Amino acid sequence: MQALRGPLNYDEEPSRHLSLIINAKDPFNAETPRAALVESYVTPVDMFFKRNHGPIPILDDPQRYRVTVDGLVPKPLLLSMDDIRLLPKYTVTATLQCAGNRRTPMSKTKLVKGVGWDVGAVGNAVWGGAKLSDLLKLASIPENTANTEAGGKHVEFTSVDACEEENGGPYKASVSLLHATNPKADVLLAYEMNGKVLNRDHGYPLRVAIPGVIGARSVKWLDRIDVIANDFQGFFMQKDYKMFPPNVDWDNINWLSRRPLMDFPVQCVICSLEDVCSIGQGKKVNISGYALSGGGRGIERVDVSVDGGETWIEARRYQKNKVPYLADSEECDKWAWVFFELETEIYPPTDIIAKAVDSSANVQPEKVETIWNLRGVLNNSWHVIHANSPAKATHLSL
Ligand code: MTE
Repeated sequence: MQALRGPLNYDEEPSRHLSLIINAKDPFNAETPRAALVESYVTPVDMFFKRNHGPIPILDDPQRYRVTVDGLVPKPLLLSMDDIRLLPKYTVTATLQCAGNRRTPMSKTKLVKGVGWDVGAVGNAVWGGAKLSDLLKLASIPENTANTEAGGKHVEFTSVDACEEENGGPYKASVSLLHATNPKADVLLAYEMNGKVLNRDHGYPLRVAIPGVIGARSVKWLDRIDVIANDFQGFFMQKDYKMFPPNVDWDNINWLSRRPLMDFPVQCVICSLEDVCSIGQGKKVNISGYALSGGGRGIERVDVSVDGGETWIEARRYQKNKVPYLADSEECDKWAWVFFELETEIYPPTDIIAKAVDSSANVQPEKVETIWNLRGVLNNSWHVIHANSPAKATHLSL
């Protein structure tokens, strides 16, 4: 194919917004600043976090671009972008969250391995493209199929990129065939992001977007789709993006003992305040942020405490133009984050805390220590802000 997989060469990276917080330069990994996350319900593309494992591929001839559909399928295919655009187009508003979001705070408990991320490895976009379930129908796999006659049970996505962890090999991931062929799962082969052609950083010309699932499975710069018998056996599914209990460390890890991560858990983050801030006595403060849960579960509640967890107040929740949000209502974007907001007086020193409950009554764990894991994934512990009084001015009498 058009694959330009080559040496791990970072000479032709796209230009990026200067406000992004760069966590690693080559490969480029950068997050949205905390306050900017809640400035708009749909995250602008240039401010959207970028998570890469190698250089950004250059696929600048859309006419030559082809996607191979092969493996344990009744009918293999070779599709151009024109073929994919002929499939019905869907737009799905979905929040993409990296499994490593909030890794840096987890690392403060005990060191973890991986690119450091604060709270901005997450963003909400309107993805436009074809449904994977429709594409698989072209390959003669009907909707809601768990396995093909030839024994296919998973769908593997292969990129054209070259990854550091795979010694220059491509990034890959897989989902179950049942998930891929379920039209209600809204798995997209996206060629648009926020109404514009996908840009290079986010997977031009075609990427997978899997709502409600950790970002690692939404493969960018798609080269192949293969139906396979077992989930992808390579690095990014078997030796990464798995969650271990706190007692497992690098000297006693058994990678095979855990399944690859898929849905992300219930999460919420206060974006209007830094983790440590100074606030005057009795000052009214806006406490706002994002909340989300995986698997299409909505946000049932966001509780905020301004007295270190003694008492709790329910925050207002909304999506889009501040329309009040009710989990599972017709109007809500099933796969998208929910913003929350509360204005109240603060009496420092105190801890301001936010925790969310999703529509299946899942709650966030209180302490990060209880979910510490050596790769620092899925930190969804209560978000705690330490509020202090402003330092008093000292008058020196001479
Ligand atoms: N796809 C390819 N080909 N290469 C990658 O490095 N990173 C994955 C996923 N898809 C990755 C990829 C990870 S870990 C995440 S969180 C998302 O892309 C990030 O998508 P974004 O950069 O568009 O925000």
